[in-house]
Amino acid sequence: MTAQLIDGIALSKQLRSEVAQRAAALTARGRQPGLAVVLVGDNPASQVYVRNKVKACEESGIRSVMEKYDATLSEADLLARITALNTDPTIHGILVQLPLPAHIDAQKVIEAISPDKDVDGFHVASAGALMTGLPGFWPCTPHGCIKMLEHIDYDLKGKHAVVIGRSNIVGKPMALMLLGKNATVTVCHSATKDLKAQTLQADVIVAAVGKAKMLTADMVKPGAVVIDVGMNRDEQGKLCGDVDFERVKDVASWITPVPGGVGPMTITMLLVNTLEAAQRAVG
Ligand code: GUN
Repeated sequence: MTAQLIDGIALSKQLRSEVAQRAAALTARGRQPGLAVVLVGDNPASQVYVRNKVKACEESGIRSVMEKYDATLSEADLLARITALNTDPTIHGILVQLPLPAHIDAQKVIEAISPDKDVDGFHVASAGALMTGLPGFWPCTPHGCIKMLEHIDYDLKGKHAVVIGRSNIVGKPMALMLLGKNATVTVCHSATKDLKAQTLQADVIVAAVGKAKMLTADMVKPGAVVIDVGMNRDEQGKLCGDVDFERVKDVASWITPVPGGVGPMTITMLLVNTLEAAQRAVG
């Protein structure tokens, strides 16, 4: 079997054009959606991520305001900026790029963001809303994975989903979203005893570990759907996911590529959340 590709670039294009149309409608009413992107320090990867987010906003008609600070910025000064952005009526979403320098308590900064503007979905109120099924912003990467499953019309009800990874940003919210779709969910992690025994049971596997090609073909049940959240470099320095794509594609029914899979969907869901935040502010 050769799996069908779930193309994150094509799906992103479609979703971003819908965002652009809705953003234009809000702009016409004098309420252009606005996103503040806060970057502290000069982490090279963060600079690339932030640039891509700002560019995606521009292309979708969302105003983005980039605030770049030196790595020596104090926690108090950063908190003061967040407070100001919380009350700025032209800003509907606030994103503080992580990681922050070691002297700043990242959780404290995230909790300072108004939940109404928490387009990353990292605030404890957003996590609680996801857990209880109340309205709130969902973290962009797992939300993008759900959109990909919806796009292929995959009915999760009663299916066994195995999530590998338990981070607050991907693994845990992913498990809750799958549960919300009536899947039976197993979360595996570094202390899981027999990972292969778990993944072989799965109808859907979400790999979010950060380890190149760790999900091998012998770990996948024929016909399973495989979502790859990983973004790693292989031995040749080539970009690759957590899934051994070349071999797993012969076993799975659907698979996401890296690059061109979950990655673009993460930014797309940030745009969707920002648009949604602006829409809610307008009423
Ligand atoms: N650093 C790595 N991924 C992310 C993300 O999705 N949001 C933020 N704010 N920082 C990150």
